[in-house]
Amino acid sequence: VAQKTYLFVANWKMNVPFDAAQFFFGLHSAQLQQIACSTGNTLIVCPSFVSLSEAVAAVRGTQIHIGAQNCSEHVSGAYTGEVDAVSLAQMGTEYCIVGHSERRQYYGETNEMVAGKVAQLMAVGITPIMCIGQTREQYKNNETKSALMNQLMPIFCVLRTAQSAVIAYEPVWAIGTGELPDVQHIAGITEWVRELCAAELPHAKVQVLYGGSVSESNAQDIMKDARVDGVLMGGVSLDFQKFKNIVSLKR
Ligand code: 13P
Repeated sequence: VAQKTYLFVANWKMNVPFDAAQFFFGLHSAQLQQIACSTGNTLIVCPSFVSLSEAVAAVRGTQIHIGAQNCSEHVSGAYTGEVDAVSLAQMGTEYCIVGHSERRQYYGETNEMVAGKVAQLMAVGITPIMCIGQTREQYKNNETKSALMNQLMPIFCVLRTAQSAVIAYEPVWAIGTGELPDVQHIAGITEWVRELCAAELPHAKVQVLYGGSVSESNAQDIMKDARVDGVLMGGVSLDFQKFKNIVSLKR
């Protein structure tokens, strides 16, 4: 069943310090709330861990949602520096990005670890935003689908009973580069992901997003022509005017 509204996720990465995050919500929550109400779009902002609590408080009573950028694949224990999904839920975090390519590349996250994180999030009722993507080499060698399949299969195993799922297709080489695959490619891959999900997760309402160099000038085309359910934004989410224009788009 086609969705009637878009899902927008701002991944701030490590670009917004604590005071700037507070400033952002203080200054912009009311306007974002107005946009969320008038469009029906779902807006999710993902600040760093330390800003989550303040962010949740700042958007209380609005239709803006807060997400984390990562969580531990363990429930609790001797894992110095890690953050558990239980605490995220207690803090009021509703979503959590998992398996971002920067986590895979720089922090050695494997597909199994990502699946473990998804399991922890499911157990506490947080919706995982699961990132999948291929390298430039895999893209060039026509290995996109097999690369994505390797990332998806372990996730499907833990999602069997899920009612909903959010999957973000983010080609690694499109992140922060301004270089995007064409809309036909995005349409083909996201449609394929949708079909896989329909077969593997028959009980889940699945939303498929695109991420990687989304901008004011390409967001509309990506969402309309590639028929994606929304976008996952890095850089452009840091510029409020641009971010605002994108999240105001109507389906
Ligand atoms: P950019 O939008 O900066 O390319 O980043 C995309 C991304 O990694 C979002 O998770």
